[in-house]
Amino acid sequence: MHNVEEILNEHFTPALAKTTKLVFERGEGPYLYTTDGKKYLDYVSGIAVNALGHCHPKIVAAIKEQAEKLIHASFNLGSYPSALNLAQKLAEYTPGDLNMFFFSNSGAEAVEGALKLARYRTQRPAYIAFKGSFHGRTMGALSMTASTVNFRAGYEPLLQSIYHVSYPYCFRCPYHQQEESCSLECLAEIERLFQYLVPPEAVALVLFEPVQGEGGYIVPPKKYVKALAQLCQEKNILLAFDEVQTGFGRTGHMFAAQYFELVPDIMALGKAIGGGLPLSAVVSSKKLMKDWPPGAHGGTFGANPVSCAAALASLEVFEEENIIENCRKVGSYFKEKLLELKDRFPVIGDV
Ligand SMILES: Cc1ncc(COP(=O)(O)O)c(C=O)c1O
Repeated sequence: MHNVEEILNEHFTPALAKTTKLVFERGEGPYLYTTDGKKYLDYVSGIAVNALGHCHPKIVAAIKEQAEKLIHASFNLGSYPSALNLAQKLAEYTPGDLNMFFFSNSGAEAVEGALKLARYRTQRPAYIAFKGSFHGRTMGALSMTASTVNFRAGYEPLLQSIYHVSYPYCFRCPYHQQEESCSLECLAEIERLFQYLVPPEAVALVLFEPVQGEGGYIVPPKKYVKALAQLCQEKNILLAFDEVQTGFGRTGHMFAAQYFELVPDIMALGKAIGGGLPLSAVVSSKKLMKDWPPGAHGGTFGANPVSCAAALASLEVFEEENIIENCRKVGSYFKEKLLELKDRFPVIGDV
């Protein structure tokens, strides 16, 4: 057995903060097994990636089959069935007219793509993001991120003309309102932004996590999200949902947009999309995507054949095993039980 700590200290920068010293050997369903033979229930799912658990046999089979045929060719140079089939299949699930994709590798890359698409198509300089949000670690995505100062400290100047507003967090309402009688003061904050800091005509995009993830698993009220979409429409500002974390069943719908009964202009997808392999996507309508000209965006690895095969297999499992229905069932059970705990223990403020 290697001296793990020695190798980590010698060859891995501590910048990637590790939360445990475990060494994983294999995963199966909800469990992880370490090299010293211990079994762990994996509550983290590879940071919200393994929506179907570890090593689902169908995904493993699809990866093996694709790896024997073609591992990489670059979608820049030609096409291959796994990517073509994935785009067609995924378009069956994405809301409304959002049926054009740009495939990339990580959530941050998808966010970068969304920022670039919005800037390119509107030719406007500014963006609006939310306090508490997490969008990734690349410079553009990091500039939108505001979940902790630790992620940003030491990297300024970040992208300019980004305005962070309050997230609609009713439990800790920044305006001390009650959810039932709330007058959406946090939305009025955006109106005040337009009055004092940036004209709406200068804003390309509002980037919104439909459930704030890293910021504390905050579900915004439906009426806020609807009003935000309406405001964007009125001001001719694009609205992007960062569904990197909320996508693929986590809200009891394939995408949170469907829970909110809304079709944003752009979505960023990542994490669970690739069945465990690196894959992400910018999703939008033909209206926005069609006139993004050849060469305006790109990447060597995007739509990797093996990742696409895994993603396709994952979507098939969603169908065959009624995953969304199961998410709702298990989610409701958990919520009910957690609410019971909340009633019993005053230390629990919110579920
Ligand atoms: C909402 C959201 N957006 C973007 C990202 C960045 O994804 P990645 O770490 O794959 O770059 C994350 C990662 O946690 C996320 O939760």
